[in-house]
Amino acid sequence: MKIAGVVLAAGIGKRMNSSLPKVLHTLYGNSMLEHVLSPLFELKPHKIIVVAGKHIKEIKESIIQIKPPIPPLLKGGKGGLLRTQNSELIFVQQKEPRGTGNALLKAVPFLKGPKSTLIVVNGDTPLITRKTLSRFLAIHRKKRNVISLLSFVSQQPSSYGRVVRDERGDVAAIVENRDTTLSQKSISEVNSGVYAMEPDALPLLKDIDLNVSKGEYYLTDIIHIARKKGIKAGAYCIGSEDELIGINTQEELERARRLMKERIIKRWIKGGVSFVDKTSVFISSDVVIGKGTSVYPNVFIEGNTKVGRRCTIYPNVRIQNSIICDDSVIRDSSLIEDSIVKNRASVGPFAHIRPGSEIGPGAKIGNFVEVKKSLIGSGTKASHLTYIGDAKIGKSVNIGAGTITCNYDGYKKQVTTIEDNVFIGSDTQFIAPVKIGKGAYIAAGSTITKDVPSKALALSRVKQRNIKNWALKRKSKINNAEPEIMKKRKK
Ligand code: UD1
Ligand code: CA
Repeated sequence: MKIAGVVLAAGIGKRMNSSLPKVLHTLYGNSMLEHVLSPLFELKPHKIIVVAGKHIKEIKESIIQIKPPIPPLLKGGKGGLLRTQNSELIFVQQKEPRGTGNALLKAVPFLKGPKSTLIVVNGDTPLITRKTLSRFLAIHRKKRNVISLLSFVSQQPSSYGRVVRDERGDVAAIVENRDTTLSQKSISEVNSGVYAMEPDALPLLKDIDLNVSKGEYYLTDIIHIARKKGIKAGAYCIGSEDELIGINTQEELERARRLMKERIIKRWIKGGVSFVDKTSVFISSDVVIGKGTSVYPNVFIEGNTKVGRRCTIYPNVRIQNSIICDDSVIRDSSLIEDSIVKNRASVGPFAHIRPGSEIGPGAKIGNFVEVKKSLIGSGTKASHLTYIGDAKIGKSVNIGAGTITCNYDGYKKQVTTIEDNVFIGSDTQFIAPVKIGKGAYIAAGSTITKDVPSKALALSRVKQRNIKNWALKRKSKINNAEPEIMKKRKK
């Protein structure tokens, strides 16, 4: 039987005390909703329906635009967290937040098509994993239930609906905290908000009555309704609180962030990455890091970044949506955005690689160098104090200290092209557009306004002249010009 997914994300999230829709709060680079959708997509459903409320437009856009584009120079990079191939993603509106039962009801008309087992998940359980969802689905199918529910044991059961079992140990009902009896309050097994339902369970949604104490239709009521009608239902306590925690408040979000951070770091330690201090690194959930890479403290690796094998990332580095290839070194306090750093390259300290740049194999981008939307060829070096913008620079080019591409004419960005083996003396300005031919030399201190042919020397500075004894003459001039009062004082 096929699978379809429903994510309930239309609640107002009042307890978050925030103007941002609850499911758009982020944990390590992705929204709660993305974290919930990701394992759901891995179950390969033919369809996922997200039920959203008054913020449906924002929620939809956050998912559609999923990730910033891969840098223009990088073709064939990896996609975002969500790989939605083969699954249709539909957004359905629940205009008024009239409860989880009403929310699921809004999705039902969109479930037409092949008969499917429905997996329903709350949009505020961002730590849920594919493994637990798959195990839960397997048990649901094995037991041939019409409806199953995933439960867990909570340290703070008052935040959840309690799982009430009958004398045989079968699930009888879910009771929300505000409706619990004194004896039910001591139950620590709670509802995770994850359900598996066969098509026969869906008509039961209409039988849910309004819960007068809250003014909502509780999806949880479906359990006792099913039991009353003799429909096969089960609850399975197979997940831990660390992955099934529901986020209703900022405190819970903070706790979930800590849990997610631990999970991410653990994963990469297992994958052969070494952390000098694992507590002080921040790695987004989409990031991939190769074996043998070392990461120093206070490093942020964000977005869709891929770091290769045997790289070293020194302290205070932030890398965003970039690819760092094998054996590269990113030195202290550098920022790399939407770019690619090829094998054995070195960047920093204090370098800024701006979007759309490609640093070639073995190239060196040193202290206080800014590179924007530029290609740097293999073995090329810009070791100090340089700005390279909108440039195409070939192989083995030596870029002297203080070199600047003047790429902006006040209206448009212009390209500087520098071919292989060019030597650029220090303090050179290239007034783009300009092209420097292979193997040419640029004398230090030059302002280059015209193309330079291959193998030529370009020299554009005022000829030096030395004025003999100028310093002595200056001194006597100053003395003669000294006012009378100063002369008196000296006496
Ligand atoms: C819900 C469950 C509770 C369970 C807990 C697990 C109900 C009645 N209670 O409680 O048994 O232990 O989740 O975390 O289901 N939503 C809508 N429309 C609405 C109301 C809510 O789409 O009208 C969405 C919310 O956006 C949220 C999810 O449903 O993602 C759960 O709603 P929430 O208000 O957080 O329910 P809890 O009180 O946590
Ligand atoms: Ca909740």
